[in-house]
Amino acid sequence: MQKFFSVADVDDLAQVVDDALALKKSPYDSKDLGKNRTLGLVFLNPSLRTRMSTQKAAMNLGMNVMVMNMDKDGWALETQDGVVMDGTTVEHIREAAAVMGEYCDILGLRSFPSLKDKEADYTEDLFNKFVKFCAVPVISLESATRHPLQSLTDLITITEHKQVKKPKVVLAWAPHVKALPQAVPNSFSEWMCKAQEQGLVDFTIAHPMGYELSEEFTKGANISDNLEESLQGADFVYVKNWSSFAEYGEVYPVAQNWMMDNEKLKLTNDAKVMHCLPVRRDLELSSEILDGPNSLVIKEASNRVWAAQVVLKRMLEKLN
Ligand code: CP
Repeated sequence: MQKFFSVADVDDLAQVVDDALALKKSPYDSKDLGKNRTLGLVFLNPSLRTRMSTQKAAMNLGMNVMVMNMDKDGWALETQDGVVMDGTTVEHIREAAAVMGEYCDILGLRSFPSLKDKEADYTEDLFNKFVKFCAVPVISLESATRHPLQSLTDLITITEHKQVKKPKVVLAWAPHVKALPQAVPNSFSEWMCKAQEQGLVDFTIAHPMGYELSEEFTKGANISDNLEESLQGADFVYVKNWSSFAEYGEVYPVAQNWMMDNEKLKLTNDAKVMHCLPVRRDLELSSEILDGPNSLVIKEASNRVWAAQVVLKRMLEKLN
C-alpha cells in the first residue's frame, strides 16, 4: 500500500477488517516491523482521536512518531504555483512536503476543506500536492472530501457488533450550529456502498432536502428525505451533520427535528448508534443515547487504533 486516501486503496474489505481485528487481539505481534522507521503526522487542523490513535498504532508496530502541528507551529504554507510570495505565506508546499519526506518513512496529513472553493476542495488540490512533493507513502488523516481511517474503523465496528449477516446501516443527517465538511459522510458512504456491493451491509442515507451528497460517493445507496421511514428496521444508525454540497458549504434551516433520540430509536431494530466524534450533545445526538446501552461511540473511537495499525502494517511491509 503506497497511499491510503479512499476505499479504492483497499480491494479486500472483509480481509482488511479481519486483519484489523486480529491486531486488536494481538497488538504487539509485529512490534519489530516498524523498528527504525519514522511516522510523521502533519496536522493543518485540530484532532484528538486521529492524532492519538495513529500514534498508538505506530508505537504498537515499534515506529518512532513525530507530530507537526502546521496550523500552530509551522510556517504559513503557500500551496499555489506561480505566485510571488510577497504576502503572508512563508514556505511553499513544494519545499515543506519534500523536507518532511526526508525525515519520515511514512507521512500522515490532515487538511480540511475551505468549504468556499468547491473545485479546489473536490480535486483534493492540497492533499495531492503533498503526496506528489513528499515522495513517501501518505495516509490521509482526513482530507477535504474523505476520512478513510474513520470509515475503515466504522466498518470494523459494524462487523464486530452485527447480529445478522447483512445488517441495515442508516447514515442519518443531524443538526449542527455551523457548516461542517462532507468528508466523513462522503467517506462513510463510499465505504458502505462498496461493503453493500460485497454483500456485507444494506445501506441507506437519510437527509433533509438540500443536503444531497455528491453522487460520486453514494452510488448504490438507498437515499431518502424521510428519517422515520429510513430508521425502520435499522441495525446501525450513523449520526452525522454535514453542510450542503450543491450550494457549497451552505446551511439551510430544517423545520423537522432530525436529532437522534430514544423516541426515534424505537423505530429501529434496537439499533446501535455510531458517531465519529466529537459530538455536540443534545444537538446532534441526545445525551440519553450517548449515555445509554445503544451507543457505540467509545468502542468506535477505540477501534481507530486497529484501523490505523492495519494500514501502517501494510505500508511497512511494502517498505521492508
Ligand atoms: N473522528 C475524528 O477524526 O476525531 P478527531 O477529529 O478528534 O481526530
